[in-house]
Amino acid sequence: MVTNRRDIVGLDASILMHPKVWEASGHLAGFSDPLVDCKKCKERFRADHLENLNKCQKCGGELTEVRKFNLMFKTFMGAVEDHTTTVYLRPETAQGIFVNFLNVQQASRLKPPFGIAQVGKSFRNEITPGNFTYRTREFEQMEMEFFVPPSEDTQWYEYWSGARLKWYSDYGIKKENLRLRDHGTEELAHYAKGCVDVEYLFPFGWSELEGIANRTDYDLKQHSQFSGKNLAYFDEETKQHYYPYVVEPAAGADRATLAFLVDAYHVEGEGKDERTVLRFHPALAPVTVAVLPLMKKDGLAELAQDIRQELKEDFATDYDQAGAIGRRYRRQDEAGTPFCITIDYESRDNGSVTLRFRDSMEQVRVNRSELAARLRQEIKTYKRVK
Ligand code: GAP
Repeated sequence: MVTNRRDIVGLDASILMHPKVWEASGHLAGFSDPLVDCKKCKERFRADHLENLNKCQKCGGELTEVRKFNLMFKTFMGAVEDHTTTVYLRPETAQGIFVNFLNVQQASRLKPPFGIAQVGKSFRNEITPGNFTYRTREFEQMEMEFFVPPSEDTQWYEYWSGARLKWYSDYGIKKENLRLRDHGTEELAHYAKGCVDVEYLFPFGWSELEGIANRTDYDLKQHSQFSGKNLAYFDEETKQHYYPYVVEPAAGADRATLAFLVDAYHVEGEGKDERTVLRFHPALAPVTVAVLPLMKKDGLAELAQDIRQELKEDFATDYDQAGAIGRRYRRQDEAGTPFCITIDYESRDNGSVTLRFRDSMEQVRVNRSELAARLRQEIKTYKRVK
């Protein structure tokens, strides 16, 4: 979003903000889960996840009344620890964007429709973390607030719903494992006019990857009121102030990573031909290319190191000279490395190397001087095998 588009800029806002920010956003009053405790075994449960609110599902003990439990982590600012110094770790990155809206708009000189995006840690005191990294207490969010003239909100809401679904399939997730799920009115957050989730079919069932919400002008108005600083946008053409509407795609980097991992994981072949392969899109693979000398001796290792050094400038590059070449390919397949370069005696004699593709296991000869351009081309035109 930030590097490939002209209408979105990046931001890195604070994790600790003035406590009034969380009053204005509604998090202090409303960001809570309904909980019950077992009086006997002391286990705590989400009340909305239980079928029977009278009896503990673990030990049969009596349950407490349902209580609201705020999910924000608290800490203290400065030397004194009392309620006047309480601050909160941000439970979402979005509010840091809203309070900085005018700073960023004026510095970047962008006009609505435009977006502010950030990636960063958020913290929630989740009662039921789990399913691998699906739900954790500190996690990496990727949020973008797209500020639009109020009359254009529906059009942009539809645009971003489609664009965000496509993002996951563009980076390799099978289309049949993705769907959009509309929130019903009873499920909508207090600030939202509409919300749709991108869901993925995890091994534990269909679950949310990302939400796209039409947040209206709620946030900018709330922060204007609570801070006393008017965050309305001044339209030079009409000479009028107005509060833009906000369309927000809010994703989790950890959840997306888990989905990309699950979807990429394959075990194929049989017997000695069996291999584990992670079919990561080359843009996501932790290592893009591995350089492997066929032998350590006769100058092949030095030549391979030299090529590795050259590629390292532009690609995430690994080097491996340990063990039989077949085993080294398998290791890279399992780590999801889409390309391997093998250096053999011919490489020493005529400058050509073998380029091996992870998915098809095909091998082609490429001239060393054309290697970087060829890799760039392969990354750009990558298509997942069926
Ligand atoms: N600003 C809106 C917002 O924060 P959210 O649905 O609460 O919306 C957005 O969070 C995304 O952040 C989720 O779709 C999910 O991918 C990720 N996320 C939320 N809580 C999480 C947690 N406890 N662990 C991992 N990811 C989480």
